[in-house]
Amino acid sequence: MENLEKILADFEAGLKNLKSEREVFDFEKRYLGRKDGIITNLFSEIANLSIDEKRELGSKLNEIKKRIKVLLKQKKSSVSKIEIEIDEDAPEIKSGFGSFHPLTIIKKELAEVFSSMGFDIVEGFEVANDYYNFGALNFPEDHPARDMQDAYYISGSKDQLLRAHTSTMQVFTFENEIPPVRKIAMGKCFRRDETDATHEHTFWQIEGFAVDENITSGNLKFTLNEMFKKILEKEDVNVRFRPSYFPFVEPGYEVDSTCTFCGGKGCRICKNTGWIEWGGAGMIHPNVLEKQNIDSKKFRGFAFGFGIERMAMIKFGIKEIRNFHSGDLRFLGV
Ligand code: DAH
Repeated sequence: MENLEKILADFEAGLKNLKSEREVFDFEKRYLGRKDGIITNLFSEIANLSIDEKRELGSKLNEIKKRIKVLLKQKKSSVSKIEIEIDEDAPEIKSGFGSFHPLTIIKKELAEVFSSMGFDIVEGFEVANDYYNFGALNFPEDHPARDMQDAYYISGSKDQLLRAHTSTMQVFTFENEIPPVRKIAMGKCFRRDETDATHEHTFWQIEGFAVDENITSGNLKFTLNEMFKKILEKEDVNVRFRPSYFPFVEPGYEVDSTCTFCGGKGCRICKNTGWIEWGGAGMIHPNVLEKQNIDSKKFRGFAFGFGIERMAMIKFGIKEIRNFHSGDLRFLGV
């Protein structure tokens, strides 16, 4: 019995000195641990005593065990408070505050570089009709892009559709403004593409155009060069045009830039060509200008259109386009 009182007194004294949850945990184990706990061992020892002794010591031991448990519980709640107080004085721990979405980063860079060259930034409308998306942009009547299989038409309408490109903003602009104009339009576009690692039904595009009296392909080349320098964060970037066809430009080009990852020597990113393919561009077709009563003998313009996801994929080495709109926070590295 005396021994038991002493054990309890030792326990209480020891408990006072504990400062952390960890220490309390170890202390608890020392007394109540299933293997070799001081109290646990006493329970097995009394099994060998006479019935009377067992009754007496057993009930005392139970009482002590209860008391120990209560004290441990109290101590646990007080040390966790102490730890919180200590944490408040500790140096700041960096936690996930979130990060910008890769598309947001690219859009911000594009806005910076184009506004520095005097371009206005517009977003436009995600719903267009045949005229804005195709007709006013010189698409022939039977152009395959007009097909129901290629564009998302609003249910019940043969005319209204989700815009398939941001080139629609040329039409809105020419209807409302007199040249000279310089604009970029950044916005979502929609196509019934087969979805795979590089194609999505919903994607962002930047359309840029400038109309003035003496605009040439040289102005286009310079402007795009500035854009690539900004996005690729390198000074020694060249731009290359390859002939191509888009109904609203003449001549039309596919635009490549030097692959800055290998300096043009050839690597995995540029598929060993030394050039990265970005998108389309050209000199605005006189038909597009004339349709808006802009004198194509006096005014000329350039236009270009690029996918913003593609820019982010190249810049950040992202392999799967479907990540951008998946909403999976792990993609953002939060
Ligand atoms: N609108 C085209 C598309 O989405 C991209 C494009 C090509 C835009 C050439 C242009 C251009 O302004 O000149 O495929």
